[in-house]
Amino acid sequence: MRCLKPMTIMTLAAAGVFAAVLTIAVTDPVVVEAAPAAGPDQAAAQQAPATPAKGYVGADTCATCHTGYDTAINASKHGQAKNPRTPAAAQGCESCHGPGEAHVNDPEKVKPVQFNKLSAKAVTDTCATCHNRGPHALWKGSQHEARNVSCVTCHSVHQPKSARAQLKATNQQQQCMSCHRDKVAKLDRSGHMPVREGKMECTSCHNPHGSTNVRLLKAGNSINESCASCHTEKRGPFLFEHAGISGDSCATCHDPHGSNNDRMLVAKLPFLCQRCHNHTRHPSTIYDGKVLQSSNRLYSRACVTCHSAIHGSNHPAGSTFLRQ
Ligand code: HEC
Ligand code: HEC
Ligand code: HEC
Ligand code: HEC
Ligand code: HEC
Ligand code: HEC
Ligand code: HEC
Ligand code: HEC
Ligand code: HEC
Ligand code: HEC
Repeated sequence: MRCLKPMTIMTLAAAGVFAAVLTIAVTDPVVVEAAPAAGPDQAAAQQAPATPAKGYVGADTCATCHTGYDTAINASKHGQAKNPRTPAAAQGCESCHGPGEAHVNDPEKVKPVQFNKLSAKAVTDTCATCHNRGPHALWKGSQHEARNVSCVTCHSVHQPKSARAQLKATNQQQQCMSCHRDKVAKLDRSGHMPVREGKMECTSCHNPHGSTNVRLLKAGNSINESCASCHTEKRGPFLFEHAGISGDSCATCHDPHGSNNDRMLVAKLPFLCQRCHNHTRHPSTIYDGKVLQSSNRLYSRACVTCHSAIHGSNHPAGSTFLRQ
C-alpha cells in the first residue's frame, strides 16, 4: 500500500479492485482515536499513513524530492503518528504546507505554503490549528503576538538546535537573548537565581506564549503571587505585613533577573531601606544617640541584622519585624 503512487491508488479504486483495502486505510485513523490504549498490533497499524485526500500527495511523495525532511520530522514529536493530533497522523507535510499536488506537478511554478514568506499572523494561524490549548490558549493578545513575533521566530520545525522544544537557538537563554539581551546579561551578576546553573529557566517564571498575569508571568495574577508560587513562605498573609511588600511587589526590592547585591536586591543595604525610611525615628530611640550613618545599623547585614523578618511577621510582638 505504502509504496503505491496516489494516482495508482485512485485508478485502482475507481476500478473497484482495491476497494476493500482502501476502506480499511481510510478508517484507520478513526479506529486509532477511539482506542487510546492500543496493543502492539494496533500500534503497528497506527504507523501507516492515511491515504491522502484529494489534492494531497502524502509525505512519501514530498520526500522523493525533498530528501531527508521526512527523517528529520519523524525524529521529532510532529512525526509520531501514534499521537492522533500530530501532522504525521493527519496530512503529513501538507498539514502545514497545504495540499501539494499542484506543486508536485509543477514545482518551479507552484509553491506550497512557504513559511518565510508568510506574515506572522498567517504562520501562527497555521500552528494554532493544533496548538491552541493549555499553555498556548492565551497567545492571541499576548505581548509577543502584539509585536509580530511568530511561532517560527523561536521554533524551527525542520532544523531545531535545542535539546527541548525545537528552538532555533541552542537553549532558551540564547533564544531570548536575541531580543532581551539586558535580562539575560543580568543572570551573570553575583546575586541571581539558579538560572545560569541550569536549575531554572526563563520559562520557570514566564510563559512566552501568553499569560493572564503581567509581564507574561506564568503563575498567579501579580508579581508577588508569581514569586510566592515557589517561595511559599513569603506569601503571607502575615499578622504584620510590611507595607512596602503587601502594597507593592517583590520587585520593589529584588531584581528577578539578578543584581550585583546580595539576594538580588535592587540596592545595597541599608540604602535599600532608606529609599523609603529616610525619616526613621531610630536616631531618637534608646539604642544610640548618633546619626544613622555612623551607627551599627550600617554593619553586618545592616538593617536586617535586627529586622530579620523583613517580609512580614506572625509574632505578636513582630510589628517592627524584629521577630519571625
Ligand atoms: C518533483 C519533485 C518535488 C516534489 C515531489 C515536491 N517538491 Fe517541493 N519543491 C521542489 C523544487 C524543485 C522546489 C524548488 C523550486 C524553486 O526553488 O523555485 C520545491 C520547493 C518547495 C518549497 C519551497 C522551498 C523554499 O525554499 O521556500 C516547499 C516548502 C516545498 N517544496 C514543499 C514540498 C512539499 C510539502 C511537498 C509534498 C507535498 C513537495 N514539496 C513535493 C520539488 C518537489
Ligand atoms: C509542523 C509543520 C510542518 C510540517 C509537518 C512540515 N513542515 Fe516544512 N516547514 C515548516 C516551517 C515552519 C518551515 C520554515 C523553516 C523551519 O521552521 O524550519 C518549513 C520549511 C520547509 C521547506 C523550506 C526549506 C527550509 O528548510 O526552510 C521545505 C522544502 C519543507 N519545509 C518541506 C517539508 C517536507 C518535505 C515536509 C514533510 C516531510 C514538511 N516540510 C513538513 C513547517 C512544517
Ligand atoms: C496537525 C497538528 C499540528 C500542527 C499544524 C503543528 N503542530 Fe506542533 N505539535 C503537534 C503535536 C501533536 C505535538 C506533540 C506535543 C503535543 O501534544 O503538544 C507538537 C509538538 C510541537 C512542539 C514541541 C516539540 C517538543 O520537542 O517538545 C513544537 C515546538 C511545535 N509543535 C511547534 C509547532 C509549530 C511552530 C507549528 C507551525 C509551524 C506547529 N507546531 C504545527 C501538532 C501540530
Ligand atoms: C519568544 C519565543 C517563543 C515564541 C514566539 C513561541 N514559543 Fe513555543 N516555546 C518557547 C520556549 C522557550 C519553549 C520551552 C518551554 C519549556 O521548556 O517549558 C516553548 C515550548 C513550546 C512547545 C512545547 C511545550 C509546550 O508548551 O507545549 C510548543 C508545542 C510550542 N512552544 C509551540 C509554539 C507555537 C505554536 C507558537 C506560536 C503560537 C510558539 N510556540 C511561539 C518559545 C517560544
Ligand atoms: C524568577 C522569575 C523570573 C525568571 C527566572 C525570569 N524572569 Fe523575566 N521577569 C520576572 C518578573 C517578576 C518580571 C517583572 C519585573 C517588573 O515588572 O519589575 C520580569 C520581567 C521581564 C521582562 C520585561 C521587563 C521589562 O523591563 O519590561 C522581560 C523581557 C523578561 N522578564 C525576560 C526574561 C528572560 C529573557 C529570562 C531568562 C533569561 C527571564 N525573564 C527570567 C521574573 C523572572
Ligand atoms: C524576536 C524578538 C523576541 C524574542 C526572541 C523574544 N522576545 Fe520577548 N518580547 C519581544 C517584544 C518585541 C516584546 C514587547 C516589548 C514591549 O512591549 O515593550 C517582548 C516582551 C516580553 C516580555 C514582557 C512583557 C511585558 O509585559 O512587558 C517578556 C516577559 C518576554 N518578552 C519574555 C521573553 C522570553 C522568556 C523569551 C525567550 C523564550 C523572549 N521573550 C524572546 C520580543 C522578543
Ligand atoms: C520557579 C520557582 C521560583 C520562582 C517562581 C521564583 N524563585 Fe526565587 N529562587 C528559586 C530557587 C530554586 C532559588 C535558589 C534557592 C537556593 O539556592 O536555596 C531562589 C532564590 C531566590 C533568592 C535568593 C538569591 C540569593 O542570592 O541567595 C531570592 C532573593 C529570590 N529567589 C527571590 C525571588 C523573587 C523576588 C521572585 C519573583 C520575582 C522569585 N524568587 C521567584 C526559585 C524560584
Ligand atoms: C522591602 C524590601 C523587600 C521586599 C519588598 C521583598 N524582599 Fe525579599 N528580601 C529582602 C531583604 C533585605 C533580604 C535579605 C535578608 C537577609 O539577608 O536576611 C531578602 C531576602 C529574600 C530571600 C532570600 C532569603 C530568605 O529569606 O529566604 C528570598 C527568597 C526573598 N527575599 C523573596 C522575596 C519575595 C518572594 C518577595 C515578595 C513576596 C520579597 N522577597 C519581597 C527585602 C525585600
Ligand atoms: C518601597 C518602600 C519601602 C522599602 C524599600 C522598605 N520599606 Fe519598610 N515600610 C514601608 C512602609 C510603607 C511601611 C509602613 C508605613 C510605616 O509605618 O512607615 C514600612 C514599615 C516598616 C517597619 C515597621 C514600621 C512601624 O512603624 O511599625 C519596619 C521596621 C521597616 N519597614 C523596616 C524596613 C527595612 C529594614 C527595610 C529594608 C530592608 C525596609 N523597611 C524597606 C516601606 C518600605
Ligand atoms: C541594632 C538593631 C537595629 C538595626 C541595625 C536597625 N534597627 Fe530599626 N529598629 C530596631 C528596634 C529595636 C526598633 C523598635 C524601636 C521601637 O519600638 O521604638 C526599630 C524600629 C524601626 C522602625 C519603626 C520605628 C521607626 O523608627 O519608625 C523602622 C522604620 C526601622 N526600625 C527601620 C530601620 C532601618 C531602615 C534600618 C537600617 C538603616 C534599621 N531599622 C536598623 C532595631 C534596629
